[in-house]
Amino acid sequence: MSASGSQEFRHLRLERRGPVAVLIVSRPEKLNALNRETLEEIDRAVSAFTADEARGALIVTGAGEKSFVAGADIEELAGLSPREAEATSRFGQGVMDRIERCGKPVLAAVNGYALGGGCELALACHVRIASDNAAFGLPEVGLGLIPGYGGTQRLPRLIGPGRALELIATGRRLRAEEALAIGLVSRVVPSSRLLDEAEQLALAILANGPLAVAAALEAVRRGSELPLDAGLRLESALFGMVSSSEDAREGLRAFLEKRPARFQRR
Ligand code: COA
Repeated sequence: MSASGSQEFRHLRLERRGPVAVLIVSRPEKLNALNRETLEEIDRAVSAFTADEARGALIVTGAGEKSFVAGADIEELAGLSPREAEATSRFGQGVMDRIERCGKPVLAAVNGYALGGGCELALACHVRIASDNAAFGLPEVGLGLIPGYGGTQRLPRLIGPGRALELIATGRRLRAEEALAIGLVSRVVPSSRLLDEAEQLALAILANGPLAVAAALEAVRRGSELPLDAGLRLESALFGMVSSSEDAREGLRAFLEKRPARFQRR
């Protein structure tokens, strides 16, 4: 893995593995908790990834073996006025939103504690895989707060409102296996294999038509907000759009000619 631009950031590293970018949140002394500066750096790193045509997928992970991200930085949350707290929440939500909407697949490789803002960061990614020592939770109510970076909205959409409310209202922590059982993550792997598995998954996605993958991300994201009939119309509109791409012509022709497709993102 080679570094690309790590020197620009204080609290994260942005590295590349071929066509895959890897964003490593790195504030080890605070278990990678998200202070304002770290969130701003994540925002910048995601927009650099979005603009980087040579990188088709992003893996988000935490430095070290103990923590993915242990939440928003609790020290910074103390003493905010209502207006400042609301603005902090809106900023964090914006960063998470820009991850979800970046148009290329983003995978969370959860390597330890994913609590509060860390769990919300994982929820904003399109795919979540976890190491066997990962722990998830939205413990904010225990601090007298509620999740503020999208957790009350994305968790129920992902695992259903009943289970989400139980987790949000108790603030309890769950281990990787339970996260897998309720669909919060799609795979659990040994810690030593986590990044390699995430990379394999990213490469499997990148073997497909990139316009089609982008359209699928959009259909699922926007569709989850819509009534079924509107979601189906959205699916048809995107289906029509990708069908007329050169990549779709190439994909269909390659199948008929029994050869691998060469997609060009056009
Ligand atoms: N914000 C700020 N600092 C944090 C943090 C957070 N969310 N999570 C951990 N840290 C800091 C600790 O204060 C400690 O700093 P110190 O050494 O200067 O005292 C350091 O990271 C190590 O954490 P520590 O609590 O000693 O590790 P642990 O192994 O005993 O416990 C956790 C790990 C994750 C269970 C525990 O740190 C924790 O509960 N963190 C808060 C999780 C949370 O509520 N997140 C939601 C925030 S909205």
